Amino acid sequence: MSSQPPAGSLTEKQARRELARLATEIRLADIAYYKEDAPHLSDADYDRLRKRNEDIEAAFPHLKRSDSPSDRVGADVSDAFSKVDHGIPMLSLDNAFSDEDVEEFAARIRRFLGLDGDEALIITSEPKIDGLSLNILYEDGQLVRAATRGNGQTGEDVTANARTIEDIPDRLNGKNWPARIEVRGEVYMTGEAFKDLNARQEEAGKKVFANPRNAAAGSLRQLDVAITRSRPLRFFAYAWGETSGKFAETQTEAIEKLNEWGFVTNDFFAPHDKVEGLLEAYRELAERRAMLGYDIDGVVYKVDRLDWQERLGFVSRFPRWAIAHKFPAERAVTKLESIEIQVGRTGTLTPVARLTPVTVGGVVVSNATLHNEDEIARLDVRPGDMVEIQRAGDVIPQVLGVVDPDKDRPPPYEMPETCPECGSAAVREIDDKGEEDVRRRCTGGLTCPAQAVERLKHFVSRKALDIDGLGAKQVELFYSRGAVQGPQDIFRLAQRLEEEGLPPLKEWEGFGETSARNLFEAIDARRRPPFQRFLNGLGIRHVGEITSGLLARYYLDWESFWQVVEKAANGDEAAEADLLSIDGIGQTAVTSLKDFAAESHNQEMLKALLAEIEIEPAEAAASDSAVSGKTIVFTGTLEKMTRDEAKSRATALGAKVSGSVSGKTDILVAGPGAGSKLKKAEELGVRVITEDDWLELAGLQ
Ligand code: IVH
Repeated sequence: MSSQPPAGSLTEKQARRELARLATEIRLADIAYYKEDAPHLSDADYDRLRKRNEDIEAAFPHLKRSDSPSDRVGADVSDAFSKVDHGIPMLSLDNAFSDEDVEEFAARIRRFLGLDGDEALIITSEPKIDGLSLNILYEDGQLVRAATRGNGQTGEDVTANARTIEDIPDRLNGKNWPARIEVRGEVYMTGEAFKDLNARQEEAGKKVFANPRNAAAGSLRQLDVAITRSRPLRFFAYAWGETSGKFAETQTEAIEKLNEWGFVTNDFFAPHDKVEGLLEAYRELAERRAMLGYDIDGVVYKVDRLDWQERLGFVSRFPRWAIAHKFPAERAVTKLESIEIQVGRTGTLTPVARLTPVTVGGVVVSNATLHNEDEIARLDVRPGDMVEIQRAGDVIPQVLGVVDPDKDRPPPYEMPETCPECGSAAVREIDDKGEEDVRRRCTGGLTCPAQAVERLKHFVSRKALDIDGLGAKQVELFYSRGAVQGPQDIFRLAQRLEEEGLPPLKEWEGFGETSARNLFEAIDARRRPPFQRFLNGLGIRHVGEITSGLLARYYLDWESFWQVVEKAANGDEAAEADLLSIDGIGQTAVTSLKDFAAESHNQEMLKALLAEIEIEPAEAAASDSAVSGKTIVFTGTLEKMTRDEAKSRATALGAKVSGSVSGKTDILVAGPGAGSKLKKAEELGVRVITEDDWLELAGLQ
């Protein structure tokens, strides 16, 4: 089994390949964990994948994928429960795997806040509970709603279920709580309760759970509250979301308050003034882990001062002020039965390992991704081999290598050179630098049914148009009957059926009058899709949810945006520069947008689609700050806060941060040493302010 080369030593080609592989693996694992409550990877392995992905992205920022796992938390919510928007998003934690990572975490915080060596930095430690997080809203001390994390923005309403958990107070004790507060923590099941539950399930001939976490998730997400009530769920409170008022100065004080109000908080919570203290707490918990009575998968460290937490803020999915130091992973050996090929939305052929089911860390694993042919060659895995697999966290398992290969193995596996779905040639593209793509792609484009269907599925999916009742199954059905070939056909479904000589939908098997009507209503309800969702839904390579959001917030209305893209596609340099000036938008995304806009069939599709729907403009970021909606550029040295903090503050206040000065720039914040940007701003008559002015304008002083 080979160890991985450091991210920085990879060639571009290798990095691109690995990022592609990681994106698939992490996505599959997320689905298994969040949607199916059936993870196939151990936490440690899952975290290793995420960490590797981040390391490579840090070393090759321009190769970051539009579907990068680092922009995403969890999977989408399921349909069974009604949806609840969290007051403040429920984010995830970045991971540390080594003592050095923890030291770097503390050092990074010091750098960000500009603390000198003597200034005390208190960081707390507490176990990372292996359950599922819950957000509970209290109004005037009364529990009014509880929701699962879901995709981080929107969760599932499990209020009735949460009320059955004894550790969750229905009414807060005492009086000094904010009138409105979201209390957050982890729902879990003790090891003992898990064993009892599985014994009962087995006796009753029902499904047994793979591990306490899945049992807790399965028990909380029950439509029948009586079932939840019969399951012994517990809850540790460790955080909060939206609050109507400040209730503590430090994390330590906040935890004490949560305790006073009637929540159970973890006994192993402790503040430390040195990194060594954190590492000791980690080692102590690693030793006690088996005796705690509940599963933990690491230790969480948090900056104690809440004003500092606020200053540190968030970066994509993670707070800068907290990190999870994870415990290491679980492995097993099983047989590779066969290798199957799946074709994705962009035509990528992904080999999947079908395995003889085996239990790894309490979870049954029967599939693993093999990523691509280079990975298969690297591992030299062949059907029939015994392979070692690793389940990381809660994502798809990974094949680590072959164990004692037989003498008479079949010849090395060969990736098909034609698409198994449409028969078109499947090739490895060569990029502009002459490097071969690690992925083999089907060249069938729109003619490949697998690609067309995957694209349509993406268009209607939750992060895109989100059409109720139009899921993978229905898309496949409509596609196979020739009724829906492109997104525009969805909005002309009734006509399309007629044109194809198909019966009206209500006469189709499995539809009937009501569900046909519901589907048409659901489609009509999406005739005004928000800019970000629409753009994401088009499935343009490297233009995923995050990039779409950045573009939507920058251009606000679709027409202005698309005009710029079309101009850029026609070689207008100023238009291209405008796209590139947006903080977070790089050349890869811009090139991909231009390529998309240049294709005549895409132009036709968009034209047909826009005849059916109207794209809802994005709103200028909601903030009453004076900088909200303004485009700001920082230049020169800032003395009161680091550049990173200034940018993160500005974005949080609804400003657009750009890296270059143009006619669109509203404000240039110029510190000492400002050079060409200042000059350009003066030429263009852009408002130039000092750092102090900026602090005042942003309400920070
Ligand atoms: S703090 C802004 N503390 O770990 C993030 N999370 O990977 C606030 N978790 O979604 C989370 N134990 O479900 C925090 N003591 C703890 C935790 C904890 C478990 C979970 C939680 C979170 C996930 C992040």
